[in-house]
Amino acid sequence: MKMIYILNGPNLNLLGTREPEIYGAETLAMVEEKCTIKAKALGLSIDFRQSNVEGELINWIHEARLKAQGIIINAGAFTHTSVALHDALKGVGLPTIEVHLSNVYKRESFRHHSYISPAAHGVICGFGPHSYELALDGIVSVLNTTRKG
Ligand code: DQA
Repeated sequence: MKMIYILNGPNLNLLGTREPEIYGAETLAMVEEKCTIKAKALGLSIDFRQSNVEGELINWIHEARLKAQGIIINAGAFTHTSVALHDALKGVGLPTIEVHLSNVYKRESFRHHSYISPAAHGVICGFGPHSYELALDGIVSVLNTTRKG
């Protein structure tokens, strides 16, 4: 079974209580539960993680190179700051979907630039927790069309 790493960056552990008018009332554990159900329906395994530490996310991306077939990443605010995450994703070269709960393009201009997007196959944002389920659909379509070998 194909393994997908779903990586979450800083402050996403606060989901449910953090700015609920923007991010909604669901906790990260609830998002993980939805992903688990969706992944099962798609025949995928997932490893769902969160860290507030940039280096830890980088180490997980490196680990994914040997253990996973794809990455879904919500890098939180590191999306807008981290050349190191960009380099890690490029360096590993796995199919990657960038995901955000909020529509970052409707928000402050500093959220309009992403260091993750140039290293990702595609971006899904603005659908709340459903963004993650859409990203799982997306990774399946990428995996099904990417030439093996
Ligand atoms: C976010 C959007 C980012 O701009 C923000 O820093 C986050 C969450 C989202 O999921 O909407 O932490 O990635």
